[in-house]
Amino acid sequence: MSRVRVGVLASGGGTNLQALIDATQDPAFPAEIVVVLSDRRDAGALVRAERAGIEARWLPRGGGRAAHEAAIVAALRAQAVAWVALAGYMRIVGDGLLDAFPGKVLNIHPSLLPAFPGLHAQRQALEHGVRVAGATVHLVDAGTDTGPILVQGAVPVLPEDDEATLAVRILTVEHRIYPLALRWVTEGRLVGVEGRRAVWRLPEGAAPFVFGA
Ligand code: GAR
Repeated sequence: MSRVRVGVLASGGGTNLQALIDATQDPAFPAEIVVVLSDRRDAGALVRAERAGIEARWLPRGGGRAAHEAAIVAALRAQAVAWVALAGYMRIVGDGLLDAFPGKVLNIHPSLLPAFPGLHAQRQALEHGVRVAGATVHLVDAGTDTGPILVQGAVPVLPEDDEATLAVRILTVEHRIYPLALRWVTEGRLVGVEGRRAVWRLPEGAAPFVFGA
């Protein structure tokens, strides 16, 4: 059976991309990653993609956001991508991408949204004194980290945590929830969106959350 073609946008080290690559290397996984694009030439994500034999391209930001997004859309269309996953992509996504792939752009954010959107989510969580932190996979809309929530993962905040240790703990659940969300959306289990709420039709016993340690 042919698999759903997915493009990934990443700016950083790419551990979430790696989790998606590892999951999709199982031929029974319903999706495959066919292209990885980065706004940063030195992104570790590009190296990880190349190592996995996936087309990897640096698309520089020069020329403004509209031109940059047009180049991204062209590269994704050239690979006949059906879904787009932002994995540590540190740019605001605009209409160019959202109009090209309506309702088909995923993002992962290192907080339990709607708490702590935007930059430095882990620092915001520590400063706020929350006892439970986590990560969220959501559909991307025109706002910053405001789209319908798909899957969440929670971890404790420990008294000795700093931004770095909390970020690492949150990443452990990111690596679990992103493959889960990608599997379910590409299996067609997302029934729709009612108001702010994403509606799933999940397998018996499955739940759209995980608890990490
Ligand atoms: C992850 O924690 C991801 O949730 C976050 O950047 C990190 C990327 O790590 N994304 C954002 O903050 C998006 N606003 P990675 O490159 O190792 O996947």
